[in-house]
Amino acid sequence: MKISAAVLEEFAAPLNVTELELAEPKSGEVLVRLEACGVCHTDLYTASGVDPSGYAPTVLGHEGAGVVERVGEGVVSLAPGDHVVTLFSPQCKECVHCVSPKTNLCLAIREQQNLGYLPDGTTRLARDGEPIRHFMGTSTFAEYTVMPEIALAHISDDAPSDRACLFACGLSTGLGAAMYTARVEPGSTCVVFGAGMVGLGAVAGCRLQGAERIICVDLSEQRLELARGQGATDAWIGGPDTVERVLEETRGFGADYTFEATGLVQVMRQAVEAARMGWGLCTVAGVAGKGETLDIIPRYLITGRRVCGSSFGGVKGRDQVPQLVQRYLDGEIDVDPFISHRITLEEVNDGFELMERQDGIRSVITFG
Ligand code: CU
Ligand code: ZN
Repeated sequence: MKISAAVLEEFAAPLNVTELELAEPKSGEVLVRLEACGVCHTDLYTASGVDPSGYAPTVLGHEGAGVVERVGEGVVSLAPGDHVVTLFSPQCKECVHCVSPKTNLCLAIREQQNLGYLPDGTTRLARDGEPIRHFMGTSTFAEYTVMPEIALAHISDDAPSDRACLFACGLSTGLGAAMYTARVEPGSTCVVFGAGMVGLGAVAGCRLQGAERIICVDLSEQRLELARGQGATDAWIGGPDTVERVLEETRGFGADYTFEATGLVQVMRQAVEAARMGWGLCTVAGVAGKGETLDIIPRYLITGRRVCGSSFGGVKGRDQVPQLVQRYLDGEIDVDPFISHRITLEEVNDGFELMERQDGIRSVITFG
């Protein structure tokens, strides 16, 4: 079928919204009609050419939500009409990681996905007979996409796609960091560094876990206001004295849980040092630049602080994204404030510009 899609033709150039050929889903694959897609930093990172594993041409986009149009042979968990959220982090439910409760990093299709192919090593996207590679296994800057069944979360029909798409990446990453990676305990004190999509999600996750005190640190007064709306009890403008301030406010001990959602290694260091001696857990959710390293004075670890990383918030996508969406439908997560701009697919480059200017939290593309 012919589809309209936003193609990264070459790095550091605007995306080209053009017509492509999309083949039918093969065995184990699903054709999804997209209704909405968020514009995320990872798309911009790859488009800029800074990402060393990036390739072009490809169709970007990974924060998608839509409706199943057709299923390929052998697909049992989804049927036409089902509402789905796309998962760049799949869940096969069979590999050694999927059967472990300790991680969400499914091993089933990693290699082909990283190279831009569907699990059988080919693409469904083409232009004039030339294959075009997929991106993050999703390629959702498009009217339709073909994806593996194991990379789609089946959500409630009641969830509007323009909100549900945020659960495909940033929001789930933040919520999950608090709920599934750190498993914040009720009554705890938490510090969240960064109030972008991921940090705001972490604030909401800490609140859902019953944290007593949630301090959010950012450089923007506007974002801190959003953090208050998600349940932050304290909102601070960050600076070199932030660690000292956390210690002062916690009788010299530090916070039970800290979260890093800026990707800046100096801030990661602050997040480690602001964690409580004895048992403080620092969860790193931000993505640092290639080659950067995190400095930790070993004494901080010897005295009982722990550091862990979190990819997609530790969320096992097919099982837990539907649960998170349900909590939104139940009124427990306020998603609307995250949507700062609504755009069309043709305006996708404007979405990138807004992000570069740090204007708003998320631009959401709606289709049709
Ligand atoms: Cu993303
Ligand atoms: Zn797996």
